[in-house]
Amino acid sequence: MTKSVKHTCPIELIKKTNDEPPNYSSSITEPFSTDRAAPRLLFDFGVMTSLLKPTVLHQPVLDFGAGSGWVSEFCARMDLQTVAFDIHGDLKGCLEKRIDADGRIESAKLSFAHGDGHAMPFEPDIFGHLLCYDTLHHMHDYPKFFAELFRILCKGGRGIFVEPGANHSTSPDTIAFVEAQKKHDPDWIERDVILEEIDQIARAAGFESGLHIVPMPHPLELQTFSMTEWSNFRAKNGLVRKKFTDQLATLNYFDRVIFYVDKP
Ligand SMILES: C[S@@+](CC[C@H](N)C(=O)[O-])C[C@H]1O[C@@H](n2cnc3c(N)ncnc32)[C@H](O)[C@@H]1O
Repeated sequence: MTKSVKHTCPIELIKKTNDEPPNYSSSITEPFSTDRAAPRLLFDFGVMTSLLKPTVLHQPVLDFGAGSGWVSEFCARMDLQTVAFDIHGDLKGCLEKRIDADGRIESAKLSFAHGDGHAMPFEPDIFGHLLCYDTLHHMHDYPKFFAELFRILCKGGRGIFVEPGANHSTSPDTIAFVEAQKKHDPDWIERDVILEEIDQIARAAGFESGLHIVPMPHPLELQTFSMTEWSNFRAKNGLVRKKFTDQLATLNYFDRVIFYVDKP
């Protein structure tokens, strides 16, 4: 026998109060989408901004390799003075569309610059943070990039990275993406991000304490626990804990790496 469910409260749709037809391309809807990328982007952004350093927040933030500008938009909405930076030519258009689409973005908080991350068009010591979301692994020359990062950060400044890991260049997803979208772009490169290598390069550039790694569960591969398993985990059950820590150790090396470097 099925029971019918009665709605005791009315459910109403919200209607727009102005009739302008929306016409937003995907370049400005990112990071929101119905595919599996949205949870990952939002989760990683939360981790990234949790690592912002209060003592240098009065200096601007550089969104390095800004792409469609979503990180810049979110930073501006967090009241951070933000500079979007990218090598692609459509950055201005993306940022303008974002500002036009949303009155909550204070345009005075957002600016942009074009250029190559190996030789950035900025004065030394001006940024409190560089946020690098999925862009380091496109740099042809890691040592050159880290030398530039050291040059443009202020004293005490921080570079924060969310990147794919040591298996990136050979993963089936990367190979399929390059085949479908970047086969004819001779400048496009997909590299591995190997923590030990990056640590050495960062130290050589002047980041004397090297990488600070932030291991995180991956939003697309979350482990869940039954109540019993969780009670066992909390009771220090070795096997249940091992499953979790093994996954963290693998994910946060081969698949996804989050780390920061501090300029002394
Ligand atoms: C995978 S996208 C990431 C974009 C954005 N951070 C995001 O998470 O949506 C990588 C970005 O790096 C930029 N890029 C690639 N090589 C670059 C270089 N040498 N200098 C500056 N930006 C570069 C690309 O144009 C692209 O927008």
